[in-house]
Amino acid sequence: MNIKKAISYLLTALVCSFSVAAMQPGYAADTKMGADRHVAKGVPCQACHGKDLQNPKFPDDATCTQCHNKEVLAEKTKDLPGANPHKAPHNGDCINCHLQHEPPEDYCAQCHKFGFKVK
Ligand code: HEC
Ligand code: HEC
Ligand code: HEC
Ligand code: HEC
Repeated sequence: MNIKKAISYLLTALVCSFSVAAMQPGYAADTKMGADRHVAKGVPCQACHGKDLQNPKFPDDATCTQCHNKEVLAEKTKDLPGANPHKAPHNGDCINCHLQHEPPEDYCAQCHKFGFKVK
């Protein structure tokens, strides 16, 4: 086997082992997603997806702001360097950053360097 092929096999194995790990529910407590943490705090699936879980509603900002006051959040994060994530002039949808079934993400980082550490 030539060296290029060997590297490509190694990479494939690496990627596969990561995706398998990612599919194990709760394989390590510190990798739990936002939805898991909500459920653990007594917020059921239905609070974000409506009663009929066979046809889940896709959550939007109105879903989140039922429980999280945006003004209160903006006050809390007003001193973060660069910009206030809860007063964004654009792209400020909650779930751009606070994904609930995937790791959270600094959506603004596509274009800015605010360095938000999203929970
Ligand atoms: C039915 C009420 C309710 C709804 C709806 C809700 N949350 Fe929460 N959220 C909570 C509670 C309760 C906590 C836990 C607060 C605590 O630990 O003191 C929480 C915690 C959080 C946290 C803190 C970090 C964490 O994950 O532990 C974030 C971020 C968050 N919610 C984002 C969201 C987003 C985004 C949405 C909409 C997709 C949402 N929440 C919808 C009640 C809600
Ligand atoms: C640009 C990314 C971004 C967007 C968009 C965003 N947030 Fe956040 N959010 C953050 C960051 C960063 C923090 C952590 C702030 C800190 O350092 O404590 C945070 C913290 C929070 C917390 C925890 C506050 C606490 O008491 O510790 C909640 C709840 C929350 N956000 C809800 C929301 C909701 C609801 C929306 C939509 C209305 C939203 N966020 C939009 C980045 C974002
Ligand atoms: C705090 C709100 C919240 C809770 C609680 C929550 N989810 Fe979600 N869910 C979301 C958000 C936001 C998305 C959009 C994708 C993402 O953020 O990862 C989503 C996406 C989904 C989707 C894909 C829907 C589509 O149309 O693509 C399914 C299915 C789903 N969730 C099921 C569940 C189940 C089952 C539970 C309970 C174990 C649950 N969710 C708990 C917020 C939540
Ligand atoms: C796809 C690229 C892109 C993304 C994603 C993006 N921005 Fe911007 N943003 C821009 C551009 C382009 C400007 C205009 C720059 C200028 O006029 O100098 C800008 C300007 C700004 C400004 C300057 C003030 C204003 O009102 O124009 C702020 C604050 C800002 N963005 C915050 C954010 C925040 C917070 C996020 C994440 C929620 C975000 N941006 C996501 C491209 C982006």
